[in-house]
Amino acid sequence: MRRKIIAGNWKMNKDIRETATLINELKERLKDFKNEVDIVLCPPFPSLVVAKSLIKDTPMKLGAQNMSQHDEGAFTGEVSAKMLTSIGCEYVILGHSERRQYFKETDEIVNAKVKKALKTRFTPIVCIGETLEEREAGITDRIITTQIKGVLHELSSTDVEKIIIAYEPVWAIGTGKYATPDQANQVHRLIRKLVGQHYSCPVAETLIIQYGGSVNSQNAYALLSQPEIDGALVGGASLTSDAFMRIIQACVEASIPNHS
Ligand code: PGA
Repeated sequence: MRRKIIAGNWKMNKDIRETATLINELKERLKDFKNEVDIVLCPPFPSLVVAKSLIKDTPMKLGAQNMSQHDEGAFTGEVSAKMLTSIGCEYVILGHSERRQYFKETDEIVNAKVKKALKTRFTPIVCIGETLEEREAGITDRIITTQIKGVLHELSSTDVEKIIIAYEPVWAIGTGKYATPDQANQVHRLIRKLVGQHYSCPVAETLIIQYGGSVNSQNAYALLSQPEIDGALVGGASLTSDAFMRIIQACVEASIPNHS
């Protein structure tokens, strides 16, 4: 059984005060939570320290939204794995489509970051997904295959066991358009098949694959109850405690066998 995981990608939202407000609200709402699923918050860098102290003794874990592939040195504006470890981050989102689109991150760069994250004992949440043009051209499978090969290049089975893949169709991110549960499930199945071919069936079967792209309280249950969907990477709907809690609740319900 794969344990489901909900991660909130706050992107460039919330200053320190707003971070504290949101986390305190979530803490209050999570009082009766029985740890059925994993919850990760990924605030912007300046909020990480404060977030870490606020989530102490709660089920919430901390993640960063990006990380340098370099150890240290003259890389103005970058943040290293060591810095994030010293804060107590356990997860890091890598290769988000916004990083690929606006900051020109390639599969090769993402692969270098994944290797660095694994060396530093992070759980990388590695994002892949096709654009609208690619979907309309009928080449989604080809794009996903290329991305999976690229981001997992030279990783061992033991490495792949430690990562999370987030399938995020670019056309669904922040647009309000989401993949239907069936569309998402099909791509997740392809990802699992590819990992099974490159590594082994047991590695593929234990791989956590999240869906991301306009997940909200209305569509979360249908997406999360698909057999191949093991969680969600949530952007906009992770910015209010009400919306995020509803998604966590939907995930808990979707985790109960035979729940309908
Ligand atoms: P969205 O973002 O939920 O706002 O579409 C998801 C993401 O970018 O991870």
